[in-house]
Amino acid sequence: MYRTNTCGELRLSDVGNQVTLAGWVQRTRKMGGMTFVDLRDRYGITQIVFDNDTDATLCDAANHLGREFVIQVTGRVAERTAKNANIPTGDIEIIADSLKVLNKSDVPPFTIEDNTDGGDDLRMRYRYLDLRRNCVRRNLELRHRMAFEIRRYLDSKGFLEVETPVLIKSTPEGARDFVVPSRMNPGEFYALPQSPQTFKQLLMVSGFDRYFQIVKCFRDEDLRADRQPEFTQIDCEMSFVTQEDVLQMFEGLVKHIFKYVKDIDFTEPFPRMTWADAMRLYGSDKPDTRFGMQFVELKDLTTGKGFAVLDDAEYVGAICAPGCAHYTRKQLDQLTDFVRRPQIGAKGMMWVKVEEDGSIKSSVSKFYTEDELRRWTDRAGAKPGDLLLILAGPTMRTRKQLCELRLEMGSQLGLRDPQKFSCLWVIDFPLFEWDDETQRYYAMHHPFTAPNPDDIHLLDSDTGAVRATAYDMVVNGNELGGGSIRIHDSQLQDKMFHLLGLSEADAQYKFGFLMNAFKYGAPPHGGLAFGFDRFVSILAGLDSIRDVIAFPKNNSGRDTMIDAPSVIDDSQLQELCININKPEGKE
Ligand code: AMO
Repeated sequence: MYRTNTCGELRLSDVGNQVTLAGWVQRTRKMGGMTFVDLRDRYGITQIVFDNDTDATLCDAANHLGREFVIQVTGRVAERTAKNANIPTGDIEIIADSLKVLNKSDVPPFTIEDNTDGGDDLRMRYRYLDLRRNCVRRNLELRHRMAFEIRRYLDSKGFLEVETPVLIKSTPEGARDFVVPSRMNPGEFYALPQSPQTFKQLLMVSGFDRYFQIVKCFRDEDLRADRQPEFTQIDCEMSFVTQEDVLQMFEGLVKHIFKYVKDIDFTEPFPRMTWADAMRLYGSDKPDTRFGMQFVELKDLTTGKGFAVLDDAEYVGAICAPGCAHYTRKQLDQLTDFVRRPQIGAKGMMWVKVEEDGSIKSSVSKFYTEDELRRWTDRAGAKPGDLLLILAGPTMRTRKQLCELRLEMGSQLGLRDPQKFSCLWVIDFPLFEWDDETQRYYAMHHPFTAPNPDDIHLLDSDTGAVRATAYDMVVNGNELGGGSIRIHDSQLQDKMFHLLGLSEADAQYKFGFLMNAFKYGAPPHGGLAFGFDRFVSILAGLDSIRDVIAFPKNNSGRDTMIDAPSVIDDSQLQELCININKPEGKE
């Protein structure tokens, strides 16, 4: 037996017991004739004492232990004189009477502490050591508990977890596919699923009624803090449901998990906002509703006073930053620089201050009288001490810029507390979005999303105005999940492919299997998928989903620990009938 107890469980009630522990050496300290070793395992840290007076050889062995050595210690549990209130085992220590080194360790490249000295790159290269740190392990423990509870909840509602294939057919829509060559079918490729979308719909045709899967998905897209090339979805689908049924079911799941993990009770239904309102009031389809500062439109008040910038602008929008009238010229310049950054792309920013005494100051007072400016601040509900920040330009683009400015002000004013949670359904997304570059419509969600029945008559005449029965769950400005009611009628699906510019032959080649299945009695169905990594990171109060993934990729999509992706042998390439045009500089 390697151990009688873990390093996290001994308490005062164990004093006097003879125990054996095993774990890693966190640190050793020599004080006078005593050597103290902090022994760590997944469950905690226990202090081990070696007394030179009692056993000089044993104590000498302890003095030779290095950081991260794996050891086994036997001894007696004793009450500590100097207790450590910071750890659960801080009332006791083990007076060692034997020590065995189970394995030595090289000096680790960074300290295995919550506040480590290791930078991101180093920690990713040695992720197995990073995972020894409490704060990282705790995230994975949370992930485990959430996955377990989600399964329990969905099982209690009659959902069946069904695995779907990972080697599938390439049908890129949205993101790029990762592809896998087939040795047995030279020149042909599988794709890794961007989601199990078509399979879960086929399971509905098969009569499974309620499906879910906690499943890896793969998307070859540009990476950000909330995006990984392989990530996990809680993928769900239900038959014989309306949008309302789906929203109720999964609002229930989200509330249950918030209660389970955070002990937060959401007693009210989650608010719902149409996509059009979200864009109008927040400039985003995933608004952070932890704080207000909704957009105020000023176009009608700003036109016709001889200021070309605002006269010519399609849209003039403002946010009212409460209590910010004291912002200095330098702070306002910094905000202007912020919106001018290439990623945001505004040309400039205007401001109006309502001073504490009620008077008005503005960057555009040359063009507008105080009365005119007061009409702006009144519309925005500005009070003495408030600051109006104004952007102007093409509507959609300016709204997105104003969204960034609003988020920045929210951060500056401390209104984006990661421990506060604001959940929201965004509904009534448009069915299509137009792409100027390729001059065609794309499905905003995916091509299987059903149009809103009230808008079907617009499909040909006003395609861009058709609303979808699609919905997103948004938490604190993050898209936690999204889904839709699906088209279950093969004629309507044909029509959808046609509007998306897919020829009949193309549609048949890519999605023939689904269209054929729909000929055999497809039930009305719908569902959604949550981003599981995002769900865990939001509940853990973290900015990046990388922190809740055991072995994540970096921003270039690389796993620097295993050094992937990597070149493969010529013999492997030959077997796959693949010739590589090696990029310059790569041998
Ligand atoms: P969608 O594409 O909206 O829908 O994805 C669902 C959820 O998955 C998460 N997500 C990601 N998480 C991490 N890294 C990524 N690269 C990434 N991409 C997406 C998001 C998102 O809300 N099949 C549909 C669902 C449906 O219609 O039922 C789908 O995949 O949290």
